[in-house]
Amino acid sequence: MTRSPRVCIVIPTYNEVENIRGLLGGLREVLESRGFGDFEIIVVDDDSPDGTWRAVLEESARDSRVKLVRRVGVRGLGSAIVEGLGRCSSDYSIVMDADFQHPLGVVPRLVEEALRNNADIVVASRYSPGGSIRGWSFLRRIVSLGALALAYTLVGESRRTRDPISGFFLVKKGVSLEGVNGASYKVLLEILAANPQAKVVDVPYVFERRLKGSSKLGFRDTIDYLIQVLSISRMARFALIGLTGIPVNLGVMALLLSLGAPVDIASLTGIEASVAWNYTLHELWTFKYKFRGGFASATSRYVGYHMSVLAGLATQYATMRSFYTLLGVNPLLGQLAGIVLGFLVNFLLSRGLVWRRAY
Ligand code: GDD
Ligand code: MN
Repeated sequence: MTRSPRVCIVIPTYNEVENIRGLLGGLREVLESRGFGDFEIIVVDDDSPDGTWRAVLEESARDSRVKLVRRVGVRGLGSAIVEGLGRCSSDYSIVMDADFQHPLGVVPRLVEEALRNNADIVVASRYSPGGSIRGWSFLRRIVSLGALALAYTLVGESRRTRDPISGFFLVKKGVSLEGVNGASYKVLLEILAANPQAKVVDVPYVFERRLKGSSKLGFRDTIDYLIQVLSISRMARFALIGLTGIPVNLGVMALLLSLGAPVDIASLTGIEASVAWNYTLHELWTFKYKFRGGFASATSRYVGYHMSVLAGLATQYATMRSFYTLLGVNPLLGQLAGIVLGFLVNFLLSRGLVWRRAY
């Protein structure tokens, strides 16, 4: 007989004293009855004023499978989750909330689906057929859908699940947590971005009403999420670096002009300086290639990047010209449209041809 896998449940808590005892008891029951008795539960509490951590300590004295991480002087749902995941050494780690909004019965199903599909990541999903949300206000629903749309638009790796912003999910041992720091509370999104090759499976579930205690997430968390998505997004990084290339270009050109260089030389040198600048930063940051493949392959990407830049510049000029000539649009507006389209062409070619997939 094969042994059942070891499972580690990470539960972040802040002021959940009314929920935590019942949750730990319920989890123990559901896991044992489904044959997953070899588990550990890691509660990461940020020194809750209501004494949640004390209740967890009492539980862990009774059952050594329950462990407490009490963080003093630190707060944050995302970092608490990352801290807990870092302490798991089991075959499967599961992240869930302490307030019964994530139904206990779904926990063993996540493990069963992981085993059945040999999946690396299993997402408990509210947005899959059969899943739903009970008791959310219209506003909260809209904010959640906005967050979902943003993730889908900016982080391609998130499109492998219906609910990349879920707080309820499983990761198999071996899934990389490199660069996952929990700066916002959407840790799953960071994990998906860090593991583009991982096999992802969804399990639909109904997100329940909170019966005791209150939600801790607020406006500040929404802002943190926005910053987070932007920093994960390759397209956003590409655009940011593109912007920094503009002063490099003009600065070098102005310097050469002031030294008396001819205009064409100054202009071309400025362009080349910005291309080299952008290339290096894309290599190191946007696509994080770390000069993989040695000098020869870096050189071929450098040449490739020039060609994609040329295509982008051609797009820019052609857009401006056709807007101006065919539609009579103001050339500056045409130029602006050209910059946007040229940027897209440049990004897509760079991603598809120059820094191909392996990042
Ligand atoms: N350690 C720690 N530190 N835990 C925290 C903190 C914190 O700063 N803030 C919240 N928690 C714990 C709560 O005690 C609870 O167990 C869990 O994290 C979720 O917090 P809630 O305040 O209940 O979040 P929610 O129900 O509004 O949001 C849920 O849905 C989101 C999806 O829309 C969570 O599951 C989110 O993670 C999820 O993204
Ligand atoms: Mn909740």
